[in-house]
Amino acid sequence: MRSCKMPSGAMMPVLGLGTWRMGESPRRRAEELDALKHGLDLGYPMIDTAEMYGDGGAEEIVGEALAGRAVRPFIVSKVYPHNASRAGTIAACERSLKRMRIDRIDLYLLHWRGGARIEETFEAFRRLRTAGKIGDFGVSNFDLGDMEDAARLDQGLNASNQVLYCLSRRGPEYDLLPWMRERSIPLMAYSPLDQGGLLRTAALKKFADEIGCTPAQLAIAWLLAQPGVVTIPKSSSRDRVKENLGALEVTLSPQILAGLDRAFPPPRGKQPLEML
Ligand SMILES: NC(=O)c1ccc[n+]([C@@H]2O[C@H](COP(=O)([O-])OP(=O)(O)OC[C@H]3O[C@@H](n4cnc5c(N)ncnc54)[C@H](OP(=O)(O)O)[C@@H]3O)[C@@H](O)[C@H]2O)c1
Repeated sequence: MRSCKMPSGAMMPVLGLGTWRMGESPRRRAEELDALKHGLDLGYPMIDTAEMYGDGGAEEIVGEALAGRAVRPFIVSKVYPHNASRAGTIAACERSLKRMRIDRIDLYLLHWRGGARIEETFEAFRRLRTAGKIGDFGVSNFDLGDMEDAARLDQGLNASNQVLYCLSRRGPEYDLLPWMRERSIPLMAYSPLDQGGLLRTAALKKFADEIGCTPAQLAIAWLLAQPGVVTIPKSSSRDRVKENLGALEVTLSPQILAGLDRAFPPPRGKQPLEML
């Protein structure tokens, strides 16, 4: 699978499995675990999770899905802002590693800005990096001004910014994405299906029918066609996990891209970063 180079030189796959809402209900646990295991068997090379998801429950399911595998996917997790002090970040990372039963998180993100001062969080990230407990570190839900603040403090190591970006929410294209591209910082697009809402739009369905793919595959393929963008659709269904991986096979012609631009226009001015 294609990957994106992070400022450290390490590579991040362009497509992974999201896990928000997993680990919240014992009733749905078996289905969620099955979907993750199936995704890994199919070759998804990345999983995105967070200490927040299911109060650690999602990381536990990730740990179970990883158990006994010879090849480990690229793991992304996130620290809560209220845990992101110098000592708190290190303790939160240790807990995440324990829940996932691994010794290294490949990319560790600050979930959103707030709580501790970013310089404290970054200092903890650098310590974790030196100790080999994380590979790279980055942020999430940072708008352009936040990224500029971070750039003054991150010593050029900020590896990614995970933000809400999909066909129906194209705000980051105006200024954030170009700024990140100039610095070769991959943008990790969350909620690529707009949590399912995008799939109900007639325009997306029309173009998907024209190409011969599903609306979800088209929404994901459109993100993957944007340079410097990676994405992490979530599904607890093994069939939809497989369907979403099929996005890698979808090629978008200039005509389809132009049609999508008409149906889902790019931003004409600055829009404050949306957050879910
Ligand atoms: N950093 C942040 O603040 C932040 C915020 C939000 C999300 N995220 C990350 O990004 C990941 C993805 O975002 P998301 O979970 O919000 O939304 P999403 O991936 O856009 O959409 C997930 C929803 O779409 C459904 N779905 C998935 N594939 C489908 C398909 N092929 N056909 C029809 N429905 C489909 C899922 O239902 P089923 O599960 O029933 O298939 C689920 O309800 C999250 O899981 C999380 O890892 C990060």
